[in-house]
Amino acid sequence: MKDTFLVSGGNRLSGNVKVYGAKNSVLKLMAAALLAEGTTTLRNCPEILDVPLMQRVLEGLGCEVHIDGGTVTITTPHQLRSDADFDAVRQFRASVCVLGPLTSRCGRAVVALPGGDAIGSRPLDMHQSGLEQLGATTRIEHGCVVTDAQSLHGATISLDFPSVGATENILTAAVLAQGRTVLNNAAREPEIVDLCDMLNSMGAHIEGAGTSTITIDGVEKLHPTEHSVIGDRIVAGTWAYAAAMTRGDITVAGINPRHLHLALEKLKNAGAEVETFTTGFRVRMNHRPYAVDYQTLPFPGFPTDLQPMAIGIAAIAEGTSIITENVFENRFRFVDEMQRLGADASVDGHHVVIRGQEQLSSTAVWSSDIRAGAGLVLAALVAEGTTEIHGVHHIDRGYPRFVEDLRSLGADIQRISHPD
Ligand code: UD1
Repeated sequence: MKDTFLVSGGNRLSGNVKVYGAKNSVLKLMAAALLAEGTTTLRNCPEILDVPLMQRVLEGLGCEVHIDGGTVTITTPHQLRSDADFDAVRQFRASVCVLGPLTSRCGRAVVALPGGDAIGSRPLDMHQSGLEQLGATTRIEHGCVVTDAQSLHGATISLDFPSVGATENILTAAVLAQGRTVLNNAAREPEIVDLCDMLNSMGAHIEGAGTSTITIDGVEKLHPTEHSVIGDRIVAGTWAYAAAMTRGDITVAGINPRHLHLALEKLKNAGAEVETFTTGFRVRMNHRPYAVDYQTLPFPGFPTDLQPMAIGIAAIAEGTSIITENVFENRFRFVDEMQRLGADASVDGHHVVIRGQEQLSSTAVWSSDIRAGAGLVLAALVAEGTTEIHGVHHIDRGYPRFVEDLRSLGADIQRISHPD
């Protein structure tokens, strides 16, 4: 279905909303279930398109997977296939996270070079180099990453950049390697901590998750587990920015606010009132936001996945903001669409300078990736008139019940379904 959203701007959003498990965690946790024979149960899983896509990938490898609302059970056989289903893998970038588990469980992996968002070239060199330092050989062949390993051994690995995906693939390979692996300049994202918590509950020996140095003492075997996925900080952050942009009042449940510390601080600088609770927060705004500068950086920096929301709020702020993208090279494609909505934005390399406008105006726009799509919805909520948003299948990959939740908060949004 090539659905579109119709959004009529001007409503103030207020009320309560709950976030579900993080997209960027659940897919890696599903892949981690490959590491242990038997049935692993994951709870608080989000009902997004990428979860059934990952189900197809795991089923293609020989697992049985059941999705029942927010619970996913994965039964992993003793003998896995090592070739991931080409079509399923091509459809989403996160599927590359089966590389580490397959290399350590099967001694071989063949995974198609992933598709996914149009936000940059996204090479796999650090994933490959990490697995090679653990004793695997890797190559790119016929559009696939292929790894081979007689056995894996511990190593000291220093990443050039704290890549989330490379950290995950190295972790899921090193847990079953012989000896100790020390991973320096590791990613510190909350989703890495979630993965390590799950791996430790499967019998792994990992220390230092959430810091730049992670130590993994390899074990011979892991066992299945039950694990609850952490809340989605990017979806929660989207609600926080929606509250501030629409001069609204939203209370978000199901999220550890420490996972969004900087994003919420930036909202305070923009003039919002922010209250945090153990498992949630409330954002209120009663005036036009002030301009604030943003720089995206690996965690605990400002998340690149909230950069479109930062551009959205800057577009209607009082004053000029500078937004710097340090993680993905092509993430400013979305700025063209924001200009179509009346944003005064100019891109210079990896910076964008935005002069805030009192009001945006509506038109038809195209969402090129999950977060850009959500950013366009927020901009449409404060634009005059009705905005037509195309490419919403991207948004469906990351935001469960988005339209329903927006409507319950008072937004005027409808999904228009068009048969293919
Ligand atoms: C994950 C998230 C994505 C988020 C990103 C950064 C998932 C499914 N996706 O993506 O939503 O925006 O973290 O927080 O979890 N790089 C290389 N070589 C490599 C690996 C990465 O050059 O081998 C580069 C990438 O091109 C990018 C940067 O490193 O410029 C960061 O990428 P990385 O942290 O690996 O992001 P992902 O894991 O792909």
